[in-house]
Amino acid sequence: MDTEKKVFQKRGVDYPIIDGTRTLPGKYYHSREIYDEEVEKIFYKFWMFACRAEELPQVGDFKLIQVEDESLILVRDKSNNINAHFNVCRHRGTQLCTEASGSYKSKNIQCPYHAWTYDLDGKLISAPMMQEGHGFQKDQCNLHKANVHVWEGFVFINLDTDPIPFEEQMEALIGKFSNWKMDQLKIAHHIRYELKCNWKLILQNYQECYHCPGVHPLLTELTPVQSAQHDSSKGAVIGGFMDLTKERGSMTMNGEAAAPPVCDVSGEDLQRIYYYSVFPNLLLTPHPDFVLFHHITPLGPGKITNDCYWLFRPEIINDPNAQAGIKSAVDFWDLTNRQDWQVCEQMQIGTKSKRFTRGYYSGREDILHQLDMEVLKALGHEEES
Ligand code: FES
Ligand SMILES: [Fe+2]
Repeated sequence: MDTEKKVFQKRGVDYPIIDGTRTLPGKYYHSREIYDEEVEKIFYKFWMFACRAEELPQVGDFKLIQVEDESLILVRDKSNNINAHFNVCRHRGTQLCTEASGSYKSKNIQCPYHAWTYDLDGKLISAPMMQEGHGFQKDQCNLHKANVHVWEGFVFINLDTDPIPFEEQMEALIGKFSNWKMDQLKIAHHIRYELKCNWKLILQNYQECYHCPGVHPLLTELTPVQSAQHDSSKGAVIGGFMDLTKERGSMTMNGEAAAPPVCDVSGEDLQRIYYYSVFPNLLLTPHPDFVLFHHITPLGPGKITNDCYWLFRPEIINDPNAQAGIKSAVDFWDLTNRQDWQVCEQMQIGTKSKRFTRGYYSGREDILHQLDMEVLKALGHEEES
């Protein structure tokens, strides 16, 4: 194994480059074959974030979620449960729903082709002119379901027929942010970014602040790079925090809190910004006064959508005097996001070069190596580590 001992200095900070820890080979960002393997072994196997429960407030409300070739109808049923139905009619396989979101006013789901009709919980309730027998059993033709788990208002789905228990994959999250009472928070703002880069580059970028002094001068003023620490690295959930320079500050354009602290947040959490990457597609950033999160949707090896949401307490969202604070939080993260997207897209281009084989991680990027290991382990490619 290669070993290198160097110290890279930037703006007075020493960054050791640790012995021999190498990045993923470039093909992991570009190969269609590897991406297809990721779809099968990660996106169709792991719990994935889908939407916020508040996006489906009423019985019949739905939202479509695309996971590569699979389309899922997330819908609230008459028992107030959220279901994730495969968007596939059991008659001849027609896609049932084409609208991105909406509400089933009739409180049922009807196929546009021959009018087979399903209850909101997926039960086939009408199949016109079909006679039972000769192989057709009505009770065998309910919609196929994906697994659903709601954690703190975040709806996760799992497409596997034999899923890993949610608590096992998300062990590090359970009970972690209960003081934020995130199930009570509401979406104050949403921005969709369309990016030309691999999904893993966004997770990597999120988990290190080695790049912060050069890429994010304003962020570095508000939270010094040296304060970055990891407090969780269990399996698929990797997390840490940074300290705020300003007392009772936050990540806003002027560094002032955008709102009073969220629910029961107290003590040292009033001075911290947490960064949790919930592998594979959620980046969760609880602040003392609001919660930011990114929902990543891979669309091929070199393309993603990244939906960024700002959650605040409902009374803050409805307070006309609080709007400037919300805007300051939105503007800060929109600026910071765009700075990140620029370098991620440049890395996507650079790593395609034949001259790029593997790079070197610094001591401030050790957690990225762990993230890479999660990917390689899921793919069964441990020999590439
Ligand atoms: S394909 Fe749906 S009712 Fe025929
Ligand atoms: Fe960044």
